[in-house]
Amino acid sequence: MGNALIVGNWKMNGLSASLAEIAAMAAARNDLWVAPPFTLIAGAVAAAQGRLRVGGQDCHSRPNGAHTGCVSAAMLADLGAGFVIVGHSERRTDNGETDTDVRAKALAGRAAGLDVIVCVGETEGQRDAGEVEAVVGRQLAGSLPDATDGLIIAYEPVWAIGTGRTPTPEDVTAVHGFIRAQLLARFGDAGQGVRILYGGSVKPDNAALLLGQPDVGGALVGGASLTAASLLAIAAAAA
Ligand code: PGA
Repeated sequence: MGNALIVGNWKMNGLSASLAEIAAMAAARNDLWVAPPFTLIAGAVAAAQGRLRVGGQDCHSRPNGAHTGCVSAAMLADLGAGFVIVGHSERRTDNGETDTDVRAKALAGRAAGLDVIVCVGETEGQRDAGEVEAVVGRQLAGSLPDATDGLIIAYEPVWAIGTGRTPTPEDVTAVHGFIRAQLLARFGDAGQGVRILYGGSVKPDNAALLLGQPDVGGALVGGASLTAASLLAIAAAAA
C-alpha cells in the first residue's frame, strides 16, 4: 500500500471558498491528486503551489471547435491540470457517454499530455445477474486507449458510489484481478504497470481495508474528498 495514489473527485461541488481546502491539502502532503469542477481548476492550481496535482473530471474528445459549453483536454492542460477523469459512471449515465466516447476522450487527454483515469464498473442489477466480468471487460475493451502510458484505471461499482456501501475485500480483489488479467492480455507486460484504483464510498474508516487488497493501487474518492481533513485521513490510512 506504501505508494497508494489518492485522487479526489469533487463532482459538481465547490465554490471559490473551497480553495482553502485545496491549500490545506497541499500544505499537509505533496502526493494527492484532486479534480475540482472546471470553474476551480485555475484557482486550485494556484492554491496547490505545485504540491498536489489538479485535474479535470471530464474533457471533450476534440481539441477545440463548435461545441458550446464543452472543455477540451488542451484547455485543461493550459490551466496547469495534470490529469483528467473520463468515463465516470455519472457521465456515462447523465450524459449517455458510450465506451467509444470514453475512448475518444481518453485519447484526447493523452494527446494533450494529461494522465488519464478511465472509470469502469457495474450497476447493482448487473452484479446481481452475475455480469460483472462481462460488463467490466466490455468497458475496458471499448474505453481504453491503445497504449498504457499515462493510463490509470478506476474500478467503481456504480452501486457503491455515494451510497456508503462497498464491495467486500474479496469482491474488490476479484474484480481488480480480472482487470489486471485483461490489461496483461491486451498490453502484455506493460499491463502490469497500470495502476488500478478502487472508487465508491471510500472513507477514512474503510480506506485501510479496501486499499490493502492485492492490485488496489489507490482510491478515487468522491464525497470524502471535499474537505482536507477527510481526504488527508484517507491518505494517512492508506500509508
Ligand atoms: P463517492 O464517489 O466516494 O462519493 O462514493 C466516488 C466517485 O464517484 O468517484
